[in-house]
Amino acid sequence: MPIETAALVVADVPADADLLAVPYSSELNPALAVDLHVPVADLLAHYEAKGEAGEIVEVPVAREGGVGRVLLYGVGDGSPRALRRAAAAVSRRARGREGIAVVVPDGDVTVFAEAALLACYFFKIGTPGKKPVAAITFVGADEQGVRRGRILARAVALARDLANTPASVKTPAWLADRAVEQAVGQAVGQGGGQGVTARVWDEEQLKAGGFGGLVAVGMGSANPPRLIQLSYTPAEPATRHVVLVGKGITFDSGGLSLKPTANMKTQKTDMAGGAAVIAVLGALAELGAPVRVTGLIASAENMPSGTAQRPSDVITQYGGRTVEVLNTDAEGRLVLADALAYADAELDPDVVVDIATLTGAITVALGRDVGAVYSTDDDLAKQLVDAGQSSDDKLWRMPLIEDYAAGLRSSIADLSNVEIGSTYGGGSITAALFLREFAGKRSWAHLDIAGVGRSTVDEGVLAKGATGFGVRVLLEWLTKP
Ligand code: BES
Ligand code: MN
Ligand code: ZN
Repeated sequence: MPIETAALVVADVPADADLLAVPYSSELNPALAVDLHVPVADLLAHYEAKGEAGEIVEVPVAREGGVGRVLLYGVGDGSPRALRRAAAAVSRRARGREGIAVVVPDGDVTVFAEAALLACYFFKIGTPGKKPVAAITFVGADEQGVRRGRILARAVALARDLANTPASVKTPAWLADRAVEQAVGQAVGQGGGQGVTARVWDEEQLKAGGFGGLVAVGMGSANPPRLIQLSYTPAEPATRHVVLVGKGITFDSGGLSLKPTANMKTQKTDMAGGAAVIAVLGALAELGAPVRVTGLIASAENMPSGTAQRPSDVITQYGGRTVEVLNTDAEGRLVLADALAYADAELDPDVVVDIATLTGAITVALGRDVGAVYSTDDDLAKQLVDAGQSSDDKLWRMPLIEDYAAGLRSSIADLSNVEIGSTYGGGSITAALFLREFAGKRSWAHLDIAGVGRSTVDEGVLAKGATGFGVRVLLEWLTKP
């Protein structure tokens, strides 16, 4: 369920607004048509308000035909981070209401609108509880800024919806259908050729094409694997071609290296990287991104069965490299390796970025609020870290420690998919080193989002469950050169 809240832009407060939010910073002006009876400064002093972002002082006011409320909201230092917090608090306070008019604060209206809408996101199969506010009217806002904020929020909501959908529904074929829908939904520019096209490989085509990782991971499941390609071409000729690769494991039971229930029950979101790639490709045209972008979503269900791959099997990845599968739960790198090798061999990208809920180890290292970026290119790493800072999908650069690559040696194949024993440790690092082998000489970055793909709290811009992490940072990076 994408965000149901409608956002409008108007110059004035609607006459019937019984819920009005005004930042502390702006003096209540007569045009707002409310009389607080007490000067704002005195009210704030009375409630000992500090002006922090997220703080709200609620004042009842007389309105035509009854009582209305004015929400005086703090904006902290007015930074994007503070504005996000303020916007989320305001829209959360309006839950269950028909509408709220929000006088926007000074500063970045895009992040304000984006956060106000994201705080309205919910996913419920069945009867919803208290619904988010049905409509938000941004007063005095720059229309283009609000529009961008809404596009970003909707893209994040799509990624969350895909990841929150139960795996009983979300087969690789279903995911491919959703991706194709996104491509079809893109406006094709007036003769400019702008738009998104899709291509999907089914299991027979994957076998014939040599995608040994996708085939091996998918063969234990009744729901066969898919490789999904979405291609965006901008209206103006592009100078750069970016390939995004997303992990699309629709459910990760671990395979024969079965996970315990506690670890397994969150694994319907193991396609969160793929969901982010689908959502990004769905928003590029609307945002007018100037780069060519190809999205690859490597999708399979990792299940144990009589047809499943076994620990000790040797598979052949796309391009011919052999891998000894010593743990079937290290499946993400096997499907990603095919997609990376395919991108390198066939798509001639300038840059490749993959995004994946790849390792539990990264949660230990960076926790639930910051994702990992690994890269062979210092410039690219910096660009992504910077985009993460401004988009609120925070990233921290991790090292590709050369010596640890020795842990992935196999005695019978070119590589092993896990380090056996723990000579080196650093599970997220060895996973990244494995992937690097398949990116060729391309400028490449890998985002490990296992720690940030799900939220345990319903707070601020987050709702419990999938976060849509990666959508905002990638869109920021691709649209703000
Ligand atoms: N999908 C998991 C990683 C994961 C763990 C994502 C927790 C989100 C939350 C991945 O496929 C996996 O199982 N990784 C293993 C790798 C190990 C077998 C080398 C892990 O992290 O334990
Ligand atoms: Mn796994
Ligand atoms: Zn996985």
